[in-house]
Amino acid sequence: MAHDWFGSRAALDGTVAVITGGAGGLGSAIVHDLAANGVRTAVLDRDAKAVRALEDELAGHDTLVRTGDVREEGALQALFEAVDARWGRLDTLVNVVGGTFRAPFTETRPRGWDALIRTNLTHVLHACSLAVPRIRAGGRGGSIVNVSTIEAHRAAPGFAVYAAAKAAVEQFARTLAVELAPDGIRVNNVAPDYVPTPSLRRLAGEGAAPLTTPEALATAIPMARAGRPEDVSGCVVFLASALASYVTGTTLHPDGGTYASSGWFNWPGTGWANHVPGM
Ligand SMILES: NC(=O)c1ccc[n+]([C@@H]2O[C@H](COP(=O)([O-])OP(=O)(O)OC[C@H]3O[C@@H](n4cnc5c(N)ncnc54)[C@H](O)[C@@H]3O)[C@@H](O)[C@H]2O)c1
Repeated sequence: MAHDWFGSRAALDGTVAVITGGAGGLGSAIVHDLAANGVRTAVLDRDAKAVRALEDELAGHDTLVRTGDVREEGALQALFEAVDARWGRLDTLVNVVGGTFRAPFTETRPRGWDALIRTNLTHVLHACSLAVPRIRAGGRGGSIVNVSTIEAHRAAPGFAVYAAAKAAVEQFARTLAVELAPDGIRVNNVAPDYVPTPSLRRLAGEGAAPLTTPEALATAIPMARAGRPEDVSGCVVFLASALASYVTGTTLHPDGGTYASSGWFNWPGTGWANHVPGM
């Protein structure tokens, strides 16, 4: 049966995954989809209310959900130690936490840069350094997935340091993928574009393109719709699974075609152009 083919080829059942930022937004979709495939999930998220809600939603699944901030190395370390104590194995790490604010670069200061680098890059390094020896010890290989962004692949006016930090995550992943390839530990990125989540709505409040009407979506996104959390979580499940057993050091783009179309828009009435029609 098709279901058995997916289940056995994916080989996720009974594996153990750490997901940072797994209680809300894209992270929550990733945790639910991994759990639905039999993965035992360990989550660290700073939103205590969302953590309690996730615990309720995952009742009946073997999970470990903690409130804490990934920017604190001690909180990450404690989560990995709790995973050791509970399951004694680790197969997958998904680094979801990231975020930004909007400001022209020249109006930002070192304090803001540090905050963006800590929120988007430093914890990924910490989490990987904690995960790799544990995955390696299992001798079964494993998978690391970073949630990055399309802004790691193009200019992002108003988001210069965020884009730079996410590009650093992607480049780090490429090197780590090569260093860990002999261990069968794969390292990949997933780079979404526009998926409405609470934090994206906050950014829209700061003046980032809201893309709220069907016409605006059809102009900017080749597939003419906003992304859904499951568009992203499906990519993460695939990369975590044995279906991606020979995929490493690369990036998947669940973005409805915006990375491919970069700079081209499907203008209402006039169609595709890489400039504003009539100007
Ligand atoms: N939503 C989008 O359209 C979009 C597009 C491109 C990239 N991304 C990336 O996807 C990732 C998730 O984005 P989202 O929109 O789901 O964000 P989000 O903030 O809505 O959700 C992520 C979860 O992470 C948690 N979190 C945030 N900071 C944390 C911290 N320091 N420690 C622990 N937990 C923390 C939040 O509480 C939340 O539950 C980010 O890395 C973001 O850069 C999102």
